[in-house]
Amino acid sequence: MGLVRVLPPDVADRIAAGEVVERPASVLRELLDNALDAGSTRVEIELAGGGRDLVSVADDGCGLDPDDALLAFERHATSKIRSGEDLESVRTLGFRGEALAAIAAVSRVEMLTCPGAGSEGTRVRIDRGRLLGVERASRAPGTTIQVWDLFLGIPARRKFLKSPETELDHCLRVVTRAALARPEVGFWVRHGGRTLVSAPSAGEPAGRVADLLGSRLATGLLPVEGDGGRLAVSGWAGRSDLHRPTRDDIHLFVNRRPVRDPLLVRAVLDAYRPGLPGGRFPVSVLFVELPPEDVDVNVHPAKSEVRFSRPQEVRALLFGAIGRALRGRAAVPALAQPPVGLSGGGPAAGPGAIPGATSPPAVRDGASPRGLDGAAPPSPGRLAWDDADGPPARPLAQFANCYIVAADERGLLVVDQHVAHERMIYERLIAEAESGPMARQLLLFPQTVELPPGGIETLERERGSFERIGFRFEPFGGRTVMVREVPAVLGREARPAALEDLVARAMEGDRSGAEALFPRLLATVACHSAVRKGMPLSLEQMGYILRGLAACEVPGHCPHGRVISLRVDLGALDRGFDRA
Ligand SMILES: Nc1ncnc2c1ncn2[C@@H]1O[C@H](COP(=O)(O)OP(=O)(O)O)[C@@H](O)[C@H]1O
Ligand SMILES: [Mg+2]
Repeated sequence: MGLVRVLPPDVADRIAAGEVVERPASVLRELLDNALDAGSTRVEIELAGGGRDLVSVADDGCGLDPDDALLAFERHATSKIRSGEDLESVRTLGFRGEALAAIAAVSRVEMLTCPGAGSEGTRVRIDRGRLLGVERASRAPGTTIQVWDLFLGIPARRKFLKSPETELDHCLRVVTRAALARPEVGFWVRHGGRTLVSAPSAGEPAGRVADLLGSRLATGLLPVEGDGGRLAVSGWAGRSDLHRPTRDDIHLFVNRRPVRDPLLVRAVLDAYRPGLPGGRFPVSVLFVELPPEDVDVNVHPAKSEVRFSRPQEVRALLFGAIGRALRGRAAVPALAQPPVGLSGGGPAAGPGAIPGATSPPAVRDGASPRGLDGAAPPSPGRLAWDDADGPPARPLAQFANCYIVAADERGLLVVDQHVAHERMIYERLIAEAESGPMARQLLLFPQTVELPPGGIETLERERGSFERIGFRFEPFGGRTVMVREVPAVLGREARPAALEDLVARAMEGDRSGAEALFPRLLATVACHSAVRKGMPLSLEQMGYILRGLAACEVPGHCPHGRVISLRVDLGALDRGFDRA
């Protein structure tokens, strides 16, 4: 007896808060949900220290009267549902009545709210769960909630917060998602005296997408439509040549609620396969609409996960609709790019060739008969990874406009043309970087590049690394930079996508704390300069890649860790044909 005790309320509150509030971005998401549920048309966000010091959201929604303003901070206090039945068909973003209580338990909060013109306003101040004061105050109709010093005095939580830049990045992603879902609402974000997002209410959703993702990207989005009776899918799928290094630009919404649903993400990725290079992810903005009773949103305290009553139907509809959108295109612009750095000039792209669309995912799967030599199969079927060095292999043919089939004295080799070329360029760039300043190329025409929210900040912060690899750029207003020079290997016709992708890499590194930025930037430059999947190559060009690969220090893996070549040894062939 006496071992089990009920925790004091303040400890219980903190534990509960931990499920809802993880970082500034989670506070922001909850405040935005509330502002949108309140029917706001304008939402102004102010952040300080990436949200670690201040997250403030001001709206012009319905506001609260003095009693409700106080009650709103109680746990399980909500105006959005009244009974267990209501939970079966939630139509608002919030419903758990937990967010404000949780946030107020772990920060200093001030709410200023007014329920309508001519009504009295109220200010409520709370410091880490303790009510400091409630007083009359004037305000135009709507609500402002300021959250100061998240996790102050809770070192165990505070120390898990990342740098202000990283937290800011997460906050901006939350705003992007909310704003994509609600084009009719205006969103503004200020941080450290600068306006980072300015997205006035957009007449039509496409305008909002261009505002948030950049107009260049928006022009590469294909409309997606799917009707499954009670279920509908709409939105945009990015062309498969617009791929990104992370999943961050797969934006999914269920009944306008931003979600991270593994099932939906899988459906999106499957729809793109095999049109995307390995380790790359599409850009998409997709809305699933279905009756609220067909989806359970009460799965996770942060409400970003959902459960469908008929998941397979949702999956199939999404998969089919994206597939139709992608197939609706005949030619893919990436094909028209001449290969860079390949001797022998660029092969003309076959007009009818659709990269990836007709090529099997890899030789690894189907093409390997089981049990050739009776040994337990290594992971890629009968084909072994090729890490051996030796004289370059001789090209025999290109397969599926994607693989080089080659032979050496040990047997057959299948080489991924893109990753092989990428490896070779990467090693040359590393050598070049070690021996002095890197070669730069003045662009034929300076190019403007529009970066995602937070991109300019990253670029400025990492200016040294970007200049070291050969970029010269200057701010061009808003989220746009003017690029004048690029790493020589990208060529005079460098596509702006390269800089965008490099910035995305830099932003991603912030979050993952991955290895030093510089080699990652070189790897990304190499990736952008290398021949692509889908590009027909001559024997001469294939020979050039194979020779370059043989000279590499690490010919087995690309800088991102992907396998470059697979081999079938002559011995295995002999055994398979009973010639052993
Ligand atoms: N910006 C706002 N405008 C109007 N009412 C708000 C706002 N923020 C919170 N509220 C009120 O406070 C209540 C509690 O908010 P919250 O703790 O987030 O729970 P929930 O959103 O799940 O109901 C809401 O149900 C709503 O009535
Ligand atoms: Mg809420």
